[in-house]
Amino acid sequence: MMSVLEKRSAVLLGAGLGMFVLAFASNAIVPLVMYRDLPEQTALEVVNQNTLYQLEDLRLRYREPFEQHVGQATNETCAELLKTGRQVYVAEGCWHCHSQMVRPVSNEPLRWGPVPNSPEYQNELQRPVMFGTRRVGPDLSREGGRRSNDWHAVHFWQPNTVSPHTRMPRYPWLFDGSPDKPNRRGLGLILYVQWLGSWLESYPAYEDYVPLKQQLANPAE
Ligand code: HEC
Repeated sequence: MMSVLEKRSAVLLGAGLGMFVLAFASNAIVPLVMYRDLPEQTALEVVNQNTLYQLEDLRLRYREPFEQHVGQATNETCAELLKTGRQVYVAEGCWHCHSQMVRPVSNEPLRWGPVPNSPEYQNELQRPVMFGTRRVGPDLSREGGRRSNDWHAVHFWQPNTVSPHTRMPRYPWLFDGSPDKPNRRGLGLILYVQWLGSWLESYPAYEDYVPLKQQLANPAE
C-alpha cells in the first residue's frame, strides 16, 4: 500500500503550494524586509522650485478660483494640492490611457525624455506607482513643463480644441463652469501633471528634445 504522501497528486499539490509560498516570500516578504528602513520622502519634501513656479503661475492666472480653493501659495498648500491632484488622477482613471514609465526601448527617451530610475519613485506621491498598463495617450512621466497651465485647463475642459481627433474624454467637472474657473480638483490635477518630471535637473521643454533628434539623424557627430 502507498501512503498518501507518495501519491503523485499529493506530490504535485505539495509542489504547487510550495511554489506559492516561495513566490510570496520572494515577492512580498523579501522586499518588505529589504526596504523597510529606506526613508520615503513626503509630498512636502518633493515640492521643488519648478512646481512652486507652476503654483505661482496658477495663482496669477486664476486669481479668484485659486484664492477660493487653495488660499495662499506656500510649500504646504503646494504639497496638499499635489496630493489632491494625484487622487484625481487615480479616481478619473487617467492611468487607463497614460503610462508613467519611459522604457529604454523603441527610442522612447527621444519621445518622452530620460528613462526613470528607482529613487524617483521613492516618495508619497508615487504610492502606489502609476506605471499604467496601456498607452492610448502619451507617457506622462516627463509631462511637467512641456505645456502651459492654461493649455492643460483648456485640454481638460475640451481636449479636441487643442488636440483635434483626440480620444481623450472631457473633464468638465474639474471646473466651476468654464475653463478659466478650475475648481480644487482641476487646479490639483494641473499642478500634478506639471510636477511629473519636475525633479529632473532639466525640466525639459519640448524643444529640448530636438538636439537629440538631430543626433539621431546625424549619428556621425
Ligand atoms: C480614453 C483615453 C484617455 C484618458 C482616459 C485620458 N487621456 Fe489624456 N490623452 C489621451 C490621448 C489619446 C492623448 C493625445 C492627444 C491629446 O493631446 O489629447 C492625451 C493627451 C494627454 C495630455 C497631453 C500630453 C502632451 O503633452 O501631449 C495630458 C497632459 C493628458 N492627456 C492627461 C490626462 C489626464 C490627467 C487624464 C485623466 C483626467 C487623462 N489624460 C485621461 C487619452 C486619454
